[in-house]
Amino acid sequence: MQKITIKYDPHPAQLQLHNSKARFRVCSTGRRWGKTLACSYEIVKNALEKPGSLNWWVAPVYNQSIIAYRLLSNAAQGVISQDLRSLRRLELKTGSAIEFKSADNYNALRGVGIDMLVIDEAALVNREAWESALRPTLSDTKGKAVFISTPKGRNFFFELFARGQDSGYPEWESFTFPTSANPYIDPLEIEEAKKTLPDNVFRQEYLAEFLEDSAGVFRNIKNCIQGDFEEPQVNHSYVIGWDVAKHEDFSVMVVLDTVINHVVAFDRFNQVDYTLQIERLKSLAKKYNATVLMDSTGVGDPILEQVIKNGINAEGFQFTNTSKQQLIEHLSVQLEQQNITFPYIPELVYELELFQYEMTRAGNVRYSAPQGYHDDCVIALALACWKVDTAFSPFVAADVEPVDYFDKGEF
Ligand SMILES: Nc1ncnc2c1ncn2[C@@H]1O[C@H](COP(=O)(O)OP(=O)(O)OP(=O)(O)O)[C@@H](O)[C@H]1O
Ligand SMILES: [Mg+2]
Repeated sequence: MQKITIKYDPHPAQLQLHNSKARFRVCSTGRRWGKTLACSYEIVKNALEKPGSLNWWVAPVYNQSIIAYRLLSNAAQGVISQDLRSLRRLELKTGSAIEFKSADNYNALRGVGIDMLVIDEAALVNREAWESALRPTLSDTKGKAVFISTPKGRNFFFELFARGQDSGYPEWESFTFPTSANPYIDPLEIEEAKKTLPDNVFRQEYLAEFLEDSAGVFRNIKNCIQGDFEEPQVNHSYVIGWDVAKHEDFSVMVVLDTVINHVVAFDRFNQVDYTLQIERLKSLAKKYNATVLMDSTGVGDPILEQVIKNGINAEGFQFTNTSKQQLIEHLSVQLEQQNITFPYIPELVYELELFQYEMTRAGNVRYSAPQGYHDDCVIALALACWKVDTAFSPFVAADVEPVDYFDKGEF
């Protein structure tokens, strides 16, 4: 039989995963450790060693399986007999096939005998997808599975990981490695992340720690809920953070008393007409004799002009990926240190709790509400606080073009 050689040089930590003979392997690592790359080769290896086998690559959502498709086509170069891209299926010269699936529609995954499963970003795949759809596909074939992921709190992936540490489950083995175990990642990048990210985010994303709560962006929210809304007072000064409603979202205005760093008024309404939004801003700014900090990116710029023409004392904040990150991290510190307080405002608290970060494929952090949720209150509060604690000058990141921050982008 012809010997097939695949060119791949795993780093030492990847080698530990490859060398494991366990039927079920759980690998929890920091971001950019090389999970997807290592498992691309792992699944190709299985497809070559087991002629006629059926192997599945499962990602939480469709887009991620496409990324793996590219990597895998590359890993299997020279041994592919057919690339059936429209079916998301690669056929190899050994008669084996690798298919790409997403776990969000897991009912469609039932009923096939699979020899090997790789479940990428397994912490984002829900329990039912594994227990009722994926696990049974391995029964007839006595197939294998590899779960790879960065942790997301102590969810289902944590249970699988614990199984791999438990001698009561001899078929399971688990591994954990920090990002720094990948020698292809510049240690200075990791140092930089450590300096700039909130501690819990760094511990989860780079050290692969299973935190009690998944690392949300904002902590200590509950302790910051204090007091009531207040009427304007003499000798106090006020700032309004305004998140303009641009599409189908909400217009949110947060009024902060900069003497006591307390939110004294809040307005949220679903009205995209700019003239009406400006009218409402005007009455609030007049009442509190407040200055306004607002988003002046894209269509925000002409709105800022209108606001100024209306006699409101306003300045713009240019959103770029970098400046948004700084704005959010600044708010996160304010909350953590309980530097600011606000009355119980259900919409605000809900958005703060839900707000999350994601790592982009380039390894940058991007902050946003989960898809389908709003972040207008968070942005308005962050703008109000930004002005308080810095000798204010509108921040413009020198190195990046402004982008519309509603754009969720890749990943
Ligand atoms: N053995 C290796 N040889 C060369 N480069 C490697 C190796 N392992 C990983 N890399 C590089 O490290 C980077 C991260 O790899 P990969 O995308 O597989 O990581 P990941 O853990 O899946 O990342 P993410 O957390 O973003 O999903 C890539 O640039 C990849 O090419
Ligand atoms: Mg990956």
